[in-house]
Amino acid sequence: MKGIILAGGAGTRLHPLTLVASKQLMPVYDKPMIYYPLSTLMLMGIKEVLIISTPEDTPKFEKLLGDGTQIGMKFSYKVQDKPNGIAQAFLIGEEFIDNEPVTLILGDNLFYGHGYLDFLKGKLDDLKGALVFGYPVKDPERYGVVEFDEHGKVTSIEEKPKHPKTKYAVPGLYVYDRNVVEITKSMQPSARGELEITDVNIAYLNRDELHVQLLSRGVAWLDTGTHKSLLEAGMFIETLEARQGLKVGCIEEIAFTQGFITKNEFENLIISYPKNDYTDYLVSILESN
Ligand code: DAU
Repeated sequence: MKGIILAGGAGTRLHPLTLVASKQLMPVYDKPMIYYPLSTLMLMGIKEVLIISTPEDTPKFEKLLGDGTQIGMKFSYKVQDKPNGIAQAFLIGEEFIDNEPVTLILGDNLFYGHGYLDFLKGKLDDLKGALVFGYPVKDPERYGVVEFDEHGKVTSIEEKPKHPKTKYAVPGLYVYDRNVVEITKSMQPSARGELEITDVNIAYLNRDELHVQLLSRGVAWLDTGTHKSLLEAGMFIETLEARQGLKVGCIEEIAFTQGFITKNEFENLIISYPKNDYTDYLVSILESN
């Protein structure tokens, strides 16, 4: 299973914050935002990740994350010239995907919860069709919305419907089998000129191959779309980290605990870091193992 993080877009809602750096580079408390979706992919066991961003920002992500070897990952980068839709990621990433299943996560989607994706472990590569998630929200009209019957079978999926049929929003985390590139190639841009991710999901639904998994209320899916929600997401992370003494979305810790790097490699990585609270935390993880 390969992974793609889509981290482009115009970021206009967060101007002037996003005038010189993209939204997904903004801090969410003590880390750049992209660390959180990246850690989600890592927790799913995905080690090969393509990061797609704007022509201006792609070099910044590359500077931030490098080729990934330092954390046992393999990163590559591609530019999206214009924000022509989320599903364009599969066309830009065709060579990278190389006829394998792929998980797409939006670079501004933050998840938190104990073992919230554990049920996916070992099952990802055998997935037939597509898997999306459902999460109850107060304002479903702002999202993709999924409707399903009493057996959990999807009956409809709509992008930002005026009259949502359910309260279940579809978060920006999508798992697809190898057919996703061909499906996207056969699609037309929507009325707003974008290749819509919801249209990809509708195509899978029409093939009777769209699965939905509800995320339990114990899972947090955080919004970062406005200045207020970005601040709240940061405060949420700060509150958790201060209370538990454990970090959320710490990619070095996850690389070590998932076995992507050895203890020795983890130690060498820590030595290369400046002395600060983040590094002290990594030292405490090393020592407790
Ligand atoms: O967050 C989940 C929602 O994300 C889903 O429920 C919706 O179905 C899905 O369409 C999307 O809705 P948004 O309104 O959040 O989409 P937005 O256009 O804001 O794009 C989401 C992120 O993807 C944003 O950080 C920018 C990035 N993006 C977007 C487009 C259209 C790109 O990098 N390139 C693009 O072409």
